[in-house]
Amino acid sequence: MDTASDSHNLERDALIVIASNRGPFSFKAKRDGSFDVQRGSGGLVTALGALAERHEVLWVASALSAGDRRWASAQGTQPQNVEGIRLRLIRSERQRYEQYYNVISNPLLWFIQHQLWDTPRNPSITYETWRAWREGYVGINKLFADVIAEMVQGADRPVVVFPQDYQLYLVPGFLRQRLGDRVKIQPFVHIPWPGPDAWRLLPVEMRTAILFSLLMSDQIGFQTHKDAFNFVQTCRFHLADAHSRGSRDTIHYMGRAVKAQAYPISIDVEEVSALADEAQTRLLKSQLINATGDHQLILRIDRIEPSKNILRGLEAFRALLERHPEHRGRVQMLALLVPSRMEVDEYQSYLREIMAEAGLMNAEYSDEFWEPVRIIVGHNYHRAIAAMQLYDVLLVNPVADGMNLVAKEGALVNQKDGVLVLSEHAGVFYELGDEALSVSPFDIHSTAEALHHALTMPVEERHRRAETLRQKVRGADVRRWFYAQLEDALRASSSQARNASTPDTPSATRSAASLTSEGVPADSTPNPKA
Ligand code: G6P
Repeated sequence: MDTASDSHNLERDALIVIASNRGPFSFKAKRDGSFDVQRGSGGLVTALGALAERHEVLWVASALSAGDRRWASAQGTQPQNVEGIRLRLIRSERQRYEQYYNVISNPLLWFIQHQLWDTPRNPSITYETWRAWREGYVGINKLFADVIAEMVQGADRPVVVFPQDYQLYLVPGFLRQRLGDRVKIQPFVHIPWPGPDAWRLLPVEMRTAILFSLLMSDQIGFQTHKDAFNFVQTCRFHLADAHSRGSRDTIHYMGRAVKAQAYPISIDVEEVSALADEAQTRLLKSQLINATGDHQLILRIDRIEPSKNILRGLEAFRALLERHPEHRGRVQMLALLVPSRMEVDEYQSYLREIMAEAGLMNAEYSDEFWEPVRIIVGHNYHRAIAAMQLYDVLLVNPVADGMNLVAKEGALVNQKDGVLVLSEHAGVFYELGDEALSVSPFDIHSTAEALHHALTMPVEERHRRAETLRQKVRGADVRRWFYAQLEDALRASSSQARNASTPDTPSATRSAASLTSEGVPADSTPNPKA
């Protein structure tokens, strides 16, 4: 039997369902009742744009803006075709969405997975947190599963569902409960998965619901091998019936063998290169050149996000100016900061601290010709791409990061053989770390020294490193990232189809069927060891 052509045919036939909180497009209602559509700039949208040429792609996401909500009401329950993707936006009740997004997903889960909590004080799991879990997080995950189940129910070909990220951890369990083993479910976790200890912060019921649900998948994608390994260890430690049987990447649970596999996400090489050449980017680039003058440029581009370690980046720059005063008047740090999750207190206070520190540094060091730090707050992808072409040093120093695509975009479009100063705790470190100057994000002194090293590096060495980085990024396009997952999902389904004696997964499916309304299986036991 020809396995390759089998899986190829299946691949063509398959119905692909993506589920994510943030959708691929946002909508703005116009006076005449029509809508302006804006395409998101994320890699996932681009990868799917290409995929949609060959497959039927259904995308389920939350209606986020007022425009999205109006678009969703106008469409009703039928998915609508937008740029080749059939899109269905879910309108959830506002308060439930707040609980799901601003209490559970960010901060609780996000902070656990990036290990940002200051445990003597936070988090405090209160009655409100429990309500947010039950009404918001569980409720909205269930809603996603209901909508997906309704849309794929009558499909007459293989269905593969890809729930994306930490906002939708409970979708696999609820979906398995509704559809049994008729669908392939393959979530992808975009953010770091820490080891078992970090998950202590979550109450047993929440932790069990998340792990159980994820283990109702067929396979789970992570950014790095370390994340996949940590997931396996977390399941072994916290679920009594989960075993890895000596394997580093597979969990056996209730008759189901679930593989945790690394698929490092990447960027759309063609699209990012083309953007770098657009007139708008060129205009912004010349404005930035005028503003920077002949100073060397240290660039950082981040969402305003505690895990990005923006404050310690400023402190490292201050340490550089103190220990190597020859850089004063010659180097500028430009931070392009994108507002994010401002309803969450931790994010608001983080922005205030950044602005205060930058203000202090400017007050202390500026003269009439030079201002050491420039911060631009806003979201302008063209400006980001323009700045990436110009940096001498790109600082990427997160305390934890699933991947960090800025490092890849920068390496691709930079025109100055700029040096990458890179945290050893960013997922991208495993791919680009060899050609970067690696730093511990907590070590301000060494980060300052790495900045100095980067600013004074001989031309040939810069060129050699930058060229290798560029080649690496060119060689791993985001389409490959998605197709690798799709092929693996379908290979699993075609081998199962060929082997009629392959047992179904009765006990797991039975357990999924017995899920309580809180997403916890009636017959699951947490690990007493934990
Ligand atoms: C990270 C997460 C995504 C999320 C994005 C933006 O990349 O992995 O799931 O969509 O941040 O965050 P936001 O809360 O604005 O959607």
